[in-house]
Amino acid sequence: GASAAFSTASASDSVLNNILDRGAMKVCFDAGYMPFEMKAKNGDFIGFDIDLAKMMTKDMGVEFTPVNTAWDGIIPALLTDKCDVIMGGMTITPQRNLKVNFADPYVVIGQTILLNPKLEGKVNSYKDLNNGNYTVATKLGTTGEAAVKRLIGKANISLFETQADAVLEVANGKADAFVYDLPFNALYSSQNKGQVSHIETPFTYEPLGWAIRKNDPDFLNFLNNYLRQIKGDGRYERVYNKWFKS
Ligand code: ARG
Repeated sequence: GASAAFSTASASDSVLNNILDRGAMKVCFDAGYMPFEMKAKNGDFIGFDIDLAKMMTKDMGVEFTPVNTAWDGIIPALLTDKCDVIMGGMTITPQRNLKVNFADPYVVIGQTILLNPKLEGKVNSYKDLNNGNYTVATKLGTTGEAAVKRLIGKANISLFETQADAVLEVANGKADAFVYDLPFNALYSSQNKGQVSHIETPFTYEPLGWAIRKNDPDFLNFLNNYLRQIKGDGRYERVYNKWFKS
């Protein structure tokens, strides 16, 4: 009837239905961001986000389809349907939130500094780096880039496509510091003792959330309830401890 012709939304609009019809959920992430997503030697993707995505797709009764995507193209990939959801340790920012919806935060992190060990004692916080004599490396398109520009604006900034290339600049002496998410920096410094020194106090506040396209309340509701369930029943904690407490 007339009312049906003018209705603009129905249950079938949700991407949840595409996922169920297809029998698979396509998940965007950007491997190399320890411990959330990494590429193992055998080519498999592993990590915190990967385990959570596998747990979720198993409960939905669908396959997990990994879509490894360069970070600076990851929101465009979501918006052009290359994936259904970004599970990539993405910081919920107002600028991103204008383009996508975020589920409730699943971790809260902040930016920290990996310092060239020769500057130990001289540089004790991000404020000490805010000086044209210093060069700070970080990853393109991340909140690390935003934090350096906003808070360490006087330093020279050196931007890289991958976190691996950016952090190497400190290890090889081309940069004085690397600014990035705390979990990555903590792991990197423990795996590369003596090459970098970690100033562990975070200097930004960053809730991380899974991102989906706008106008999909059914999928958002699913993700938020799923997160609450696994946080309450111990499964989240088990996966968290596996990747963060080693
Ligand atoms: N949290 C930071 C951001 O949102 C870095 C995330 C990088 N994630 C990745 N999978 N490479 O910008």
